[in-house]
Amino acid sequence: MSTAVQKKNSQYFIDLENQYGAHNYHPLPVVLDRGEGVFVWDVEGEKYYDFLSAYSAVNQGHSHPKIVEALVNQAKKLALTSRAFYNSDLGEYEKKITTLFGFDKVLPMNSGAEAVETAVKLARKWGYEVKKIAENAAKIVVCENNFHGRTTTIVSFSNDPDANQNYGPFTPGFVKIPYNDLTALEEALKDDAQNIAAFLVEPIQGEAGVDVPDENYLKNAWELCKKYHVLFIADEVQTGIARTGKLIACHHENVQPDILILGKALSGGMYPVSAVLANDEIMNVIKPGQHGSTFGGNPIACAVAMAALDVVAEENLAERSEELGKLFRSEIEILIQKTDLIKKVRGKGLLNAIMINDSPDSKTAWNLCMKLKENSLLAKPTHGNIIRLAPPLVITEAQLLDCLQIIEKTFLEFEK
Ligand SMILES: Cc1ncc(COP(=O)(O)O)c(C=O)c1O
Repeated sequence: MSTAVQKKNSQYFIDLENQYGAHNYHPLPVVLDRGEGVFVWDVEGEKYYDFLSAYSAVNQGHSHPKIVEALVNQAKKLALTSRAFYNSDLGEYEKKITTLFGFDKVLPMNSGAEAVETAVKLARKWGYEVKKIAENAAKIVVCENNFHGRTTTIVSFSNDPDANQNYGPFTPGFVKIPYNDLTALEEALKDDAQNIAAFLVEPIQGEAGVDVPDENYLKNAWELCKKYHVLFIADEVQTGIARTGKLIACHHENVQPDILILGKALSGGMYPVSAVLANDEIMNVIKPGQHGSTFGGNPIACAVAMAALDVVAEENLAERSEELGKLFRSEIEILIQKTDLIKKVRGKGLLNAIMINDSPDSKTAWNLCMKLKENSLLAKPTHGNIIRLAPPLVITEAQLLDCLQIIEKTFLEFEK
């Protein structure tokens, strides 16, 4: 085979990544080359439905024309100034995002993990300067099975050995309680009320397999936080931007977090853009020089995020996600009657997961994803034999029904 032909196939690109890239992921063996809306194409030209959306970053669909236009236009005009100077996009973006989410201020960052780090720093600083916690005594309550990113501090409070094994010594100051357990939360808060600065929680634990807490968990947790003068921090990096059927998942229970963390679909997956939102009483504890990022709030990020937020509103993505999510789960419930491969379907809006009826250590979820891929639908297993299914929110009802047929066919034909 000539080199020119070899270069076109998937194996060539897989080999390149294997040889020259760190092996910190275990991708499904498909090499994507192009995307549009709910579809992606591999280098051989095979077309697939994307049912991962880059872990819920591509809510607005691949290469949304409006977001592409914003990116290209801004890139031609001005890309990066650093925050050493003002730029003509940041203020407009800050006004738009704070108005939309109902906060006084935003602190712009890039990745989700950076925004979580920012929220942790902000909560600690508020703890010392406003709540008057004694020096270096501040604690943040977190939940078991959390996923908030990959930095050293964040993995310090993970209980996933893959995430933290041999990455110590860890950052102290975190108290872990079971997720979806208000009694445990109240005990933790009561025990050490004067030292606890914040409670950090995912409204739905995405990486843990789309674990949806009981109704009113968030609302009651928020009330408990108010009672003990503790900040309620919602990590909506995965659940935010219409993914669960509301602009943020907290809105399902009319909760307005003290600190809101956004990322991923804030840019429609076009560019790394994350944000931390809070009111003045909290945000004003950070003064010039006390936190920052060269790229945070850069003109491209601002232009892209403004366009991405417009798309969410103009295309009614929250309503669409809410409605289509109900359809999706009700159809999977019907499929559950026809196969013993599925234990349960759970989720909110278009953030859903199918729990496979097999041991958490078996390869069944992976093997099912390989079969789904053969049938032109891309999804990825998450922890414990669970398949997360999260298409771009621009998916139409007809497309979703087509995907449900693919899923049904794959499950009914599958042999363990
Ligand atoms: C809830 C949550 N927080 C934080 C992150 C980290 O985001 P990033 O990968 O952009 O650092 C993720 C990523 O999956 C997430 O799901």
